[in-house]
Amino acid sequence: MKDLRGKTAFITGGASGLGLAMAEAFGHEGMNVMLADIEADVAREKVEALRAKQIRADWVKVDVTSRDSVRAGALATVAAFGKVHLVANNAGVGAGGVFGEVPEGDWDWVIDVNLKGVVYGMEVFAPLMQSHGEGGHFVNTASMAGHISPAGMEPYCATKFAVVAMSEGWREQLAPRGIGVSVLCPGVVSTNIYAGRRNRPADAYGPDGRPVDPAALEQQREWMAGGIDPLIVGQRVVEAVRDDDLYIFSHVEYESVVRERYERVMAGFEKSKASPALNTLPGDRRLDVPLGRR
Ligand SMILES: NC(=O)c1ccc[n+]([C@@H]2O[C@H](COP(=O)([O-])OP(=O)(O)OC[C@H]3O[C@@H](n4cnc5c(N)ncnc54)[C@H](O)[C@@H]3O)[C@@H](O)[C@H]2O)c1
Repeated sequence: MKDLRGKTAFITGGASGLGLAMAEAFGHEGMNVMLADIEADVAREKVEALRAKQIRADWVKVDVTSRDSVRAGALATVAAFGKVHLVANNAGVGAGGVFGEVPEGDWDWVIDVNLKGVVYGMEVFAPLMQSHGEGGHFVNTASMAGHISPAGMEPYCATKFAVVAMSEGWREQLAPRGIGVSVLCPGVVSTNIYAGRRNRPADAYGPDGRPVDPAALEQQREWMAGGIDPLIVGQRVVEAVRDDDLYIFSHVEYESVVRERYERVMAGFEKSKASPALNTLPGDRRLDVPLGRR
């Protein structure tokens, strides 16, 4: 999407961190922005701050774990701005822990927000984008944790690998409809994600058996504060939307880490090429590519 001026962006998790930064970056390009967030009061405050910067902004309370809530957010955005051209499926939370000790409620919560929230955002908005015929673009927020999987972050990484995988497939499916799909994969960005457990609803996911230790929280806050400025990532997203990039990286220093992972994957192929079991297959069967090539 080359021309952003006058178009409308809907941003989940828009009241804080990367979502708010994308809103500001899109707003500076002349877009209308709708902050969709479970924290309505914070979203309202941030809208005032954006308006003070001459950005046309509004807010709507949305819980991305509910398809109905996302749909209501879409209707509110159409009512406020007419059409939606860009959707940032960005709301996300963190969860992880020692193998066997991650509460089931945490698995459910992180999957509902980070994975199913993206599915709902895509499925609700794609038909709206298609119907106005002016083209559209999705930016789905994954993470470097969608390319590498540090021990102890499995629930989070599982959802972020999923967001990368889904975005790759959807990009092909939606291109013929004039809709682009990008996947944002940042490293550490200075946001409030370290305090995300405040939005874990006990009625849906069970009581939080991991009450937040204020000292540990402060340590995480300090660590996150060392991340890059989210606004720079927002500006990178603007560039990528204009160029219709699939992968949006903001931390190029991770290139070697991702390369090393793929080298380990390739080593797995090399090992299998020498497998006596596989070498009993006829040669042409071994070269079949049933999943196709990208
Ligand atoms: N900060 C980082 O270092 C980093 C790195 C890679 C990826 N990410 C991803 O960036 C995205 C944004 O996170 P952030 O770092 O800006 O964190 P953040 O906590 O500052 O912002 C997240 C926002 O999402 C909202 N939210 C939480 N649950 C929600 C729900 N169910 N429905 C709607 N909104 C909800 C929160 O209220 C908050 O405003 C997430 O998907 C996160 O996984 C962050």
